[in-house]
Amino acid sequence: MSEQTRNIVMYLAYLLASVLFIWGLKDLGSPKTARRGNAVGAVGMLIAVVVTLLHKEIVSYYWIIAGIVVGSFLGILMAKMVKMTQMPQMVGILNGFGGLASAFIAMSDYLVKKPETASVDWIITVVLSIVVGMVTLTGSVVASAKLHGTMKSAPILYRFQLQSNSLLLLVTLAIGAVAVVSPFGTWVVGGYTLTSLHILLVVFALSCLLGILIVIPIGGADMPVVISLLNSYSGIAAAMTGFVLDNSVLIIAGALVGASGIFLTKTMCDAMNRSLANVMFAGVGAEVTGATAAQPQKTVVRYTPDDVVMRLETAQTVIIVPGYGLAVAQAQHALHQMASILIERGLQVRYAIHPVAGRMPGHMNVLLAEANVPYELLLGLDEINEDFSNTDVVMVVGANDVVNPAARYKKESPLYGMPIFNSDYARTIMVLKRSLNPGFAGEDNELFFNDKTMMVFGDAKKSLTEIVNLLKKK
Ligand code: TAP
Repeated sequence: MSEQTRNIVMYLAYLLASVLFIWGLKDLGSPKTARRGNAVGAVGMLIAVVVTLLHKEIVSYYWIIAGIVVGSFLGILMAKMVKMTQMPQMVGILNGFGGLASAFIAMSDYLVKKPETASVDWIITVVLSIVVGMVTLTGSVVASAKLHGTMKSAPILYRFQLQSNSLLLLVTLAIGAVAVVSPFGTWVVGGYTLTSLHILLVVFALSCLLGILIVIPIGGADMPVVISLLNSYSGIAAAMTGFVLDNSVLIIAGALVGASGIFLTKTMCDAMNRSLANVMFAGVGAEVTGATAAQPQKTVVRYTPDDVVMRLETAQTVIIVPGYGLAVAQAQHALHQMASILIERGLQVRYAIHPVAGRMPGHMNVLLAEANVPYELLLGLDEINEDFSNTDVVMVVGANDVVNPAARYKKESPLYGMPIFNSDYARTIMVLKRSLNPGFAGEDNELFFNDKTMMVFGDAKKSLTEIVNLLKKK
């Protein structure tokens, strides 16, 4: 194959891969087509990888094969071991590796570049790949550690934090600018010879520090938003590296990840009714010191699965509000079984899915789809919130913040302003959880003390299984 033909084939294959990425992403937008979207995107990636392996500049395949074997082994192991509730941490770590890969590729391209072929746009993208890539790596590691509980989730705050972080960013970019102005320069400073490579290594180290310092002031409860933002950064870093290597498919794939990450971040912020600036800089979730006001003594009434079944016998309409606890308990199958029995008996049963229920976007949809809950039964805030006041029973399963009325009026609460389900408007409220502990935002929930509320304490799967068994006996 002549060089020209080979280049044309590669170009067309990259174009095909890019089209498949865009198609796959489009399909991922709906649960009905999401599986196909995943497969289409994977085929696009396979084409991109195989075509890249045919590149004439490849010196040796040994390291590549070793990387594929070790990487695949670790990837399969991690995917098998990770629980559904730990997916955000896993995504966070994978974003971080993406950032690291971009920074390393940019650095290695710098090391093999001949000065006569270097251009200004090339060195600018080398520096940006390093900055964005390393911020993504260390930021993602901190975010994942906070979500996983390896690191304290409360924000770490100190005086002049925003100012010092801004200064660090400016210093990093200014030092990077020196490399841009003189990509292969040498300087003698205090008897030491400094080269542009040293400058890039300093940019590398400062970017690592910046990633850590940007994420530590953010509370653990906001980590899913941060992970989504860092996901976007990893895409931007990849697109930058695409420019470094002059590789169109990497630019397109990186831009798609960057743009979709930004959209996801915005969707999450909108669903919590908070701005991105508020998430990044407000330090929500900090421990409040000093005397706390005495809490009035409140009591709740404990109900049993028997009581639940008895109340359901007289109900006609039921709305189920699932939350993070459903995922922890892996109670989706038992829930679907219960709902199916009720539907068979003529009740209207629907699921109210809050956009931030769980720990990542779409968490509840994926969980319920796994149990084969028909997609038409899943309704969003706008579609179902008006109906709670005409509903006999709302069953809150392992959810908390998304039904906390404090979001409506309590200005000092981290939940303030977040749209919630009007569960308290239903005729009877059933809450299935293990204790009175608060949810992710750490805010007590007055819904548990409502006169209409039946608290059913225990693991959601255990309680639902008992309810299913009792229903079957009736
Ligand atoms: P949460 O408010 O976190 O409440 C979950 C509840 O599940 C807990 O109160 C817990 O109470 C209960 N639970 C845990 N394990 C359980 C088990 N085995 N059986 C029964 N219950 C169990 O969850 P939510 O209502 O889904 O709200 C999501 C929160 O995450 C919101 O604050 C949201 O802002 C935040 N967040 C979500 C996202 C996305 S995109 N999903 C992004 C950013 C932030 P017990 O310990 O008493 O059982």
